[in-house]
Amino acid sequence: MASSPSLLLYDNPPEQEDSEIQVLGGLLAVEKSISPKFFYDEEGSKLFTEITRLPEYYLTRTELALLRENTDEIGELVGKSSLLIEYGSGNSEKIRILLERIRPKIYVPIDISKNYLTKAADALNDEYPWLEVRAICLDYTREFELPFVVEDRPIAFFPGSSIGNFSRDGALQFLKRVKHLVGDGGGLLVGVDLKKDINVLNAAYNDANGVTEKFNLNILCHLNREFSGDFNLSGFSHLAEYNAQEGCIQMFLKSKSDQLVNLAGHEIYFDKGETIHTENSHKYSLAEFHEMADAAGFAQLRCWRDARNWFAVFYLGG
Ligand code: AVI
Repeated sequence: MASSPSLLLYDNPPEQEDSEIQVLGGLLAVEKSISPKFFYDEEGSKLFTEITRLPEYYLTRTELALLRENTDEIGELVGKSSLLIEYGSGNSEKIRILLERIRPKIYVPIDISKNYLTKAADALNDEYPWLEVRAICLDYTREFELPFVVEDRPIAFFPGSSIGNFSRDGALQFLKRVKHLVGDGGGLLVGVDLKKDINVLNAAYNDANGVTEKFNLNILCHLNREFSGDFNLSGFSHLAEYNAQEGCIQMFLKSKSDQLVNLAGHEIYFDKGETIHTENSHKYSLAEFHEMADAAGFAQLRCWRDARNWFAVFYLGG
């Protein structure tokens, strides 16, 4: 669907039936889980933007500062590319820094939340008349083909440490897919949250204003709407804790009582204290990430870090 000559929307959201099978599979399993991609309905995307502005959630502002401070060096390394692809573009806040430096011909934001994607793409289309925006609504955590032929060496952008929301093996497979897409001439600019003091990590996912709690609980609202469910949000509490062995923050919703929930025509039983695992957010050491980039086939690696060594932006190329 084209809304203006320089703005195209390719709409390929996950099939409702596939999503239903995935959600029921997770909730009817012995250890209950919901994929974190269900966080991002309209409300969830708004709450996530709110999270990125919280004092405890250092990730976004640290990454933004790194991108701003190192734009020239990043620009030189990335070079001229006519195609910039962003995975999980959300509100497309960070891309502006790169758009102005790289000035690609085409920008491809990819996101699962269609309304959010369309709004962000519209705004960029108005702001940068020289830019062609080809927005793609899809679940980038799965394998997919771009709906057009890539002629130039593309640069991929995956900010925010969203790579941490994959399992470690999932992250490696994702990097391999990106490597395949960008080829030998292209590259990937990726933000990665680093291992650090556990108290800093736990505070970032247990903010004093309860925004992360709302974000976590909103996943149930999304399921209620999408799959005719009757989750009672006040029947669950938010839990987020760093698991040092796994090297990740793990987020759960904990049932406050024995309860029965209906979803997509199925009954789901919860014992008091039983949890639904909603997210892992992996934290990497520089060496761990380096090793993974290497295993994915990227030969060139450059890294920028903040003074506290809390967050890193990597450029992977070659
Ligand atoms: C999107 N992603 C990188 C966030 C994270 O930190 O793992 C999602 C999030 N979950 C709770 N707070 C933020």
